[in-house]
Amino acid sequence: MAGGHEELGEAQRRHWEQTYTAHPGMYGEVPSAPAVHATGVFRSAGAQDVLELGSGHGRDAVYFAREGFTVQATDFSGTGLEQLRAAARRQGVAERVTTAVHDVREPLALPDDSVDAVFAHMLLCMALSTKETYAVVSEVRRVLRSGGVFVYTVRHTGDSHYGTGTAHGDDIYEHGGFAVHFFPRDLIDALADGWALNEVHPFEEGGLPRRLWRVTQTLPR
Ligand SMILES: C[S@@+](CC[C@H](N)C(=O)[O-])C[C@H]1O[C@@H](n2cnc3c(N)ncnc32)[C@H](O)[C@@H]1O
Repeated sequence: MAGGHEELGEAQRRHWEQTYTAHPGMYGEVPSAPAVHATGVFRSAGAQDVLELGSGHGRDAVYFAREGFTVQATDFSGTGLEQLRAAARRQGVAERVTTAVHDVREPLALPDDSVDAVFAHMLLCMALSTKETYAVVSEVRRVLRSGGVFVYTVRHTGDSHYGTGTAHGDDIYEHGGFAVHFFPRDLIDALADGWALNEVHPFEEGGLPRRLWRVTQTLPR
């Protein structure tokens, strides 16, 4: 186990800043498969506004805006968010997108019951302890309106990187400077306590491939 947890979080923030600076728009402009799926789920739920956590340079935030949603995009990388704003301007949707630098280890700067839907692709599986992960989900619950939808994805313990690289405790392993919290299945169930857990869908992304679950959970009305 290497370094303290807070130190790891700060090192990760610097690493993501450097990564987006060195590789602007690194995930491309095509939306992720989970974002395309979430669009249908959000629409069926009658959602109009979406909060995205860990939006990076915004392949998905800008797509949600193109699809007609109002989007609040947050990330702890100001560089990623600058690239997101530039993409939103280029694609003519800047008026529907706002950004805020925010570290999810801190409470969300939003009122209770203020958003219809929350999306987080590969954010909860960053270098967050299990305790911090519960706190994030509790914040998502606080800001969602009743009947609100939360779609998130996480890499899980079936991923080939699980258990390899530098161990930081709490199922967090670091490869090439990127720390990932690999989720066991029971954590998904525990995080849905008090929600309706609508779906846990396994999928793969990228060449490794990363092995993930796409989770959809909703608040009771
Ligand atoms: C794997 S990337 C995914 C980016 C984006 N969701 C996408 O799929 O294109 C993870 C993102 O989470 C952000 N991130 C990691 N830890 C964070 C934290 N504690 N608070 C806020 N953002 C964080 C990183 O800066 C990065 O943009």
